[in-house]
Amino acid sequence: MSISYDEARRIFHLRGKDVSYVLGVVRDGYLAHLYYGKKLREYRGSNDLTFIKRDFSPSVEIGDETFSLDSLPQEYPQYGNTDFRKPAYQVKGPDGTTVSDLRYGSHRIYSGKGTLDGLPATHGSDVDTLEITIVDEVLKLQVVLQYAVFTEYNIITRSARFINNGDNTLQILKAASASVDFKDGEYDLLTLPGAWGNERQIERGPIRRGIQSVESLRGASSHQQNPFIALLRKTTTEEQGDVYGFHFVYSGNFEATVEVDQFATTRVNFGIHSFNFNWQLKQGETFQTPEVVMVYSDKGLGDMSRQLHHFYQNHLLRGAYRDKERPILVNNWEATYFDFTEKKILDIAKIGSKLGMELLVLDDGWFGKRNSDKTSLGDWFLNKEKLPHGLTKLAEKINNLDMAFGLWFEPEMISVDSDLYRDHPDWCLHVPERRRSESRNQLVLDFSREDVRLAIVNQMTTILKEVPIKYVKWDMNRHLTEVGSAHFPKEQQQEIAHRHILGVYDVMNRITTEFPDILFESCSGGGGRFDPGMLYYMPQTWTSDNTDAISRLKIQYGTSLVYPIVTMGAHVSVAPNHQVKRHTSLEIRGNVAMSGNLGYELDLTKLTDTEKETIKQQIQTYKEIRPLIQFGDFYRLKSPFEGNETAWMFVDKTKTEAVVFYFQVLAVPAKPLQTLKLAGLNKDAEYKINATKQVFGGDELMYSGLKIPTTLKGDFQTFQWHLIAKM
Ligand code: DGJ
Repeated sequence: MSISYDEARRIFHLRGKDVSYVLGVVRDGYLAHLYYGKKLREYRGSNDLTFIKRDFSPSVEIGDETFSLDSLPQEYPQYGNTDFRKPAYQVKGPDGTTVSDLRYGSHRIYSGKGTLDGLPATHGSDVDTLEITIVDEVLKLQVVLQYAVFTEYNIITRSARFINNGDNTLQILKAASASVDFKDGEYDLLTLPGAWGNERQIERGPIRRGIQSVESLRGASSHQQNPFIALLRKTTTEEQGDVYGFHFVYSGNFEATVEVDQFATTRVNFGIHSFNFNWQLKQGETFQTPEVVMVYSDKGLGDMSRQLHHFYQNHLLRGAYRDKERPILVNNWEATYFDFTEKKILDIAKIGSKLGMELLVLDDGWFGKRNSDKTSLGDWFLNKEKLPHGLTKLAEKINNLDMAFGLWFEPEMISVDSDLYRDHPDWCLHVPERRRSESRNQLVLDFSREDVRLAIVNQMTTILKEVPIKYVKWDMNRHLTEVGSAHFPKEQQQEIAHRHILGVYDVMNRITTEFPDILFESCSGGGGRFDPGMLYYMPQTWTSDNTDAISRLKIQYGTSLVYPIVTMGAHVSVAPNHQVKRHTSLEIRGNVAMSGNLGYELDLTKLTDTEKETIKQQIQTYKEIRPLIQFGDFYRLKSPFEGNETAWMFVDKTKTEAVVFYFQVLAVPAKPLQTLKLAGLNKDAEYKINATKQVFGGDELMYSGLKIPTTLKGDFQTFQWHLIAKM
């Protein structure tokens, strides 16, 4: 059992692979945080809590000026009774006040981990759970803090369940999933901000006194801020040092705050955004928060990423495709946009098949009257003018080319110009008497309503049953405005943003459960909803609408920080690139896309014979290295955020095979000679480099390094090495 409780000292010790997390019950039932970091054999309190009088920190017990919640590191801090920092929760009682006081009531330790009602969550067998129930006797409120310790990782997940045991309705105004108090403020904060076409750019800087936060109020996890933060020591690098990562398994509004207080301690608080959130918790009801994954490493960011990659692969992703190699697809979006015919799609498929591609994805534009983005979302039936022989016929013809068939949907949306909207104008999120703001000419369906959800599920089910579909791209192309529902009473309107996400999860759950053999890829204008919540339902995500190889270096590098490579859709598109108009070689586009889940997204009918030959070669190479790329260990060697070069490599579990990619953005005059020190190899093994047949020791490759060829001339250069250990 990885969780122990010392009854005499009232201390809980949670032990992961190489991490300890210690908390205790102090004084009159307050839950205090004691230690989080490298694994301890035992916590005896060499650096225990200090109780001293602090001016302007009110006492909890009259007469004892040394005990104030203002300076106590807490597990689930409250506001209004001596702690002035950001609380983890806030509940309004029947009298309208918001002061509450949760104290230890009981606890339960068991092996295994439950599911979270209606929410995505991590799972597995090598996991133990601690549930601590804290109680407010006045409000008759119970909060069950849930801690799951994954024993093979330095990973602990947290969430909280609110239970109203009283007779009155309580209003939850804030319900964080986790809160952790650190002893000092000497940390950097690392975040993954971005924008459409520029997702997950790494930012790192020192934390300061006061509150700094990362948040989304867009109704989705968003391109703008990924629901991830990490605290790192200032000396932490890719290879060494302490890092504490917090990752939210949720796809809606969130807030992650880091507060450095007057005594230079640091509080991290992560959960659903409390702005515009008010949940009516009626008598006997429960409210479950989503889960936060907390990952610790004392070996730097690289180790943190590898832990998360394998953890998510084994304990978040699900379904038939979880451990399967993913097909190399060709998608018609950048090839044709809305302007395609059956013949054009088949022509693309025919060439794709000859080049070794395995799946054709028919993107947006096959349904309703969809010839532009102004119409038909919600009308999930065939556009017969475009595809007169039907989807089934098209899919069969593609299958006859030895390719699987995939289809695009955007289930959460509705166009004003659609039969669905004409029939049900109140089925979108809206506020009566107010404008319905459009984005990409569309509105958002009100998935807080079951009738709306079922109508969409039925439409999709009909097609997925009828047509031999092996892959679905599930898109979502706008953020939420006028978030209100015609179905719920006024007191519940501030629940709608969360209820909508629960509805999205419900629809995803129904469809993915009914069609377990379909590979689902989530998408939101590229990578606007690349989050662990989505990965629970769909084991891969379209990383970005920006397919330019050079932009992708940063996007994929940033994404790799927390997401497994196998989950990252990466496509070769045409040059000049449609998003940034840059001209790069097919080789570099191939190497960048091969560093993820490879696909092609260009008009194959326009390729020259030389280009076809290059692509054929890329596909052949990718098929050889695919298991290594998709399921190996990933090492970042050079960061595009720090200079002109990027490099990363993949090593298989047995360290017998590796593939290394190097990219140089701009040509450099009088360029200094460059070395690439490899990582993750077996230092005692001899590795043969495929292309040159040279043999080097793993130690030499890692400590002395590989020469970057001096033959690389001009901008946008790349190189790939494939290493095989000699047995
Ligand atoms: C946004 C996606 O990210 C694109 O790949 C494409 O599917 C379009 N939507 C289609 O509308």
